[in-house]
Amino acid sequence: RGVLIKIVQIVTRKTTRLCSTKPIVTVNGQYPGPTLSAREGDTVLVKVVNHVKYNVTIHWHGIRQIRTGWADGPAYITQCPIQPGQSYVYNFTLTGQRGTLWYHAHILWLRATVHGAIVIKPKLHVPYPFSNPHQEVVLVLGEWWNADTEAVINQATKTGLAPNVSDAHTINGHPGPIASCVSSQGRTDGYKLKVKSGKTYLLRIVNAALNEDLFFKIAGHKLTVVEVDAIYTKPFTVDTVVITPGQTTNVLLTADKTLGQYLVTASPFMDAMIVAVDNKTATATLHYKVPPRNATSIATSFATSLLSLNSKKYPANVPREVDHSLLFTIGLGINPCSTCVNGSRIVAAINNVSFVMPETALLEAHFFNKQGVFTTDFPGKPLVPFNYTGSGPTNLQTTNGTRLYHLAYNSRVQVVLQDTGTISPESHPIHLHGFNFFVVGQGVGNYDSNTSPSTFNLVDPIERNTIGMPSGGWAAIRFKADNPGVWFLHCHFEVHTTWGLKMAFLVDNGKGPNESLLPPPNDLPKC
Ligand code: C2O
Repeated sequence: RGVLIKIVQIVTRKTTRLCSTKPIVTVNGQYPGPTLSAREGDTVLVKVVNHVKYNVTIHWHGIRQIRTGWADGPAYITQCPIQPGQSYVYNFTLTGQRGTLWYHAHILWLRATVHGAIVIKPKLHVPYPFSNPHQEVVLVLGEWWNADTEAVINQATKTGLAPNVSDAHTINGHPGPIASCVSSQGRTDGYKLKVKSGKTYLLRIVNAALNEDLFFKIAGHKLTVVEVDAIYTKPFTVDTVVITPGQTTNVLLTADKTLGQYLVTASPFMDAMIVAVDNKTATATLHYKVPPRNATSIATSFATSLLSLNSKKYPANVPREVDHSLLFTIGLGINPCSTCVNGSRIVAAINNVSFVMPETALLEAHFFNKQGVFTTDFPGKPLVPFNYTGSGPTNLQTTNGTRLYHLAYNSRVQVVLQDTGTISPESHPIHLHGFNFFVVGQGVGNYDSNTSPSTFNLVDPIERNTIGMPSGGWAAIRFKADNPGVWFLHCHFEVHTTWGLKMAFLVDNGKGPNESLLPPPNDLPKC
């Protein structure tokens, strides 16, 4: 068991991409930020010092934070933000987790540039359940806006419309050779990964993009998926890895070609880097700019191929019975808005409730029993009946509220996430803080409580922290509420979160000695 102590500085750094230079908020001046490397069982102390003019928090996406909700990071959910000139020490232990996760700012849209990978190695002398790779490579997929990202959001809030899409996708901070600008200033030829012929590489892929599911592909090469969201999977081989914002995926790449360069793409926008096999005599680059035509079928087959390893060492402890059976409709709607340029605005809601951020942290309000900050009447089923037909809006009404759903310690929860497709069918990457969940079922169209459960996999379903809900369909997830605190659930498309697609669970303390939320640290920021 080690203790890892780090100090990171949140600083502004002038950065040039696509011929455009702007100051961006970074971790230690780097974009993406440095990789945090640790080992299963380690206690991690990261002091985050805020040198910028914005409020900041950091979320350790996928880290369970058992009893340490104070270190989880979502602003106004588990902590007040770190104000300019202040600092805060995130203190947590990596219990029972190993693999690739990531960290990102969890306030406004700062995570566009404030993010990085977390690599948790297995305990000493514990091997991977696959053969040891020759080398491990972190690939952080992101998005770049030439405009200031704050301006992009402000514009969207003012008009009530969707924000502008990003100007490029990036791999480890670099737009691809095609998307790059051609003048010499700010030109980039993309990120290059050099590999040796015949060797196998473990790619640790993070989707840190704000608003885009990505299709990751390496021309001429197959990829073997071995882990998602720091959970080992039954290995399976694909051409294309489907990865939503928030998700992480580890794949094995065997460099089985001899010479050449192979384009690595993260569609939709074809921004790329190059894998160069024996790069000395690199010749042509194969350029292709086709976003997958059958994206939905690729996504479906990828999702259904994902299964937990479920071995003796890594069992899948799926709750067989449930205490709470919830149905959450996930959708967008249009509400009147007097301050919006267009007289209406897009809102997003779960069960017709558009979540309103409080002004003080929910976890503190809960711990200190402060009244009037939230209510615990979040509806367990939609407030308005719906019937998703795939054509036309049926379920647009929303109300506002800071409503939580209350769970007893150790209760077993099933949530059916149903896309209501009110504007058009959409895939939503739904992320739950504080837990992993099992994806026990998924399908297209309406969930049917009579017939759908018979299709559930309760043996080896994939376990993860972020699910790409099938577009125009549903997914059923299960988890055990064994972590006391306040835990955010939201769409990891930043724009949907901004519109209100979020809620939180409130989990009680248990009765046992190690079953209650620890007290807040002394340096917990104040609102
Ligand atoms: Cu990675 Cu609440 O998010």
